[in-house]
Amino acid sequence: MEIYTAEHLQSVLLPRPVRFVQSIGSTNDLAREWLQQGGANGAVVIADEQVQGRGRMGRSWFTPPGTALILSLLLRPPVTALHQVTMLGAVSIAEMLDQLGAHSVAIKWPNDVLLNGRKVSGILPETTWDGSRLVGVVLGIGVNVRIDFTGTNLAATAISIEPALGRPINRVDLLKMLLDSLDRWSLHLGTEVLFEAWRARLVTLGTAVLIDHLSGQLHGFAESVDPSGVLRVRDASGRLHTVMAGDVSLGEPD
Ligand code: BTN
Repeated sequence: MEIYTAEHLQSVLLPRPVRFVQSIGSTNDLAREWLQQGGANGAVVIADEQVQGRGRMGRSWFTPPGTALILSLLLRPPVTALHQVTMLGAVSIAEMLDQLGAHSVAIKWPNDVLLNGRKVSGILPETTWDGSRLVGVVLGIGVNVRIDFTGTNLAATAISIEPALGRPINRVDLLKMLLDSLDRWSLHLGTEVLFEAWRARLVTLGTAVLIDHLSGQLHGFAESVDPSGVLRVRDASGRLHTVMAGDVSLGEPD
């Protein structure tokens, strides 16, 4: 039986500082306050339900109670490793899925984790500065464990772990696995080792892509990524574009 309470999570995750809330707007907000009040590197905010969860590019993130892992990890990396924080999240989530025995795990640039070609997890890092001094980063992670997407507009693109693997998953075990993986990969933050692990899992490379970014759309071929995470896309006229952020659709553009 899954026991998802503050007492149980705290005891399982000791000695890590943990804050659990049953329901919250966004775990990233509470984590940011904690970071500003001196919360330690590795401390984590966990919620059962999020009612105003944020996604990338100004979207919302859907999390009904009892159905997902929703967490925000406090990190205090050096400024030079900031660009690798999303890689840290994506690689750690992918490793957790491997450990569960999932076969088809991949990362869609820059940081969507896919299971059987559909999005199972999203990552939202938010950085806090005090003037020019980096206070830290909140690494927000949402993992779909048993969200039923049937009849929603996400039915074709999103997936949950339990129906994909065909067995019940205990969220406490999953959380422990994910945090252990994040701790291990944190040791490689800012290095080639983490970059290579992220790149090796990218399904985006070597494919035709359609990129939605803030200033429009780009059709092309995803040629490479560089260690800062930037994607290089060649369009039909042969011009090479550098893409820092955006949403990628895979496959032949029409
Ligand atoms: C994405 O759009 O892919 C990113 C989704 C990130 C969702 C997580 S859930 C925990 C944390 N709190 C939030 O409000 N968002 C992140």
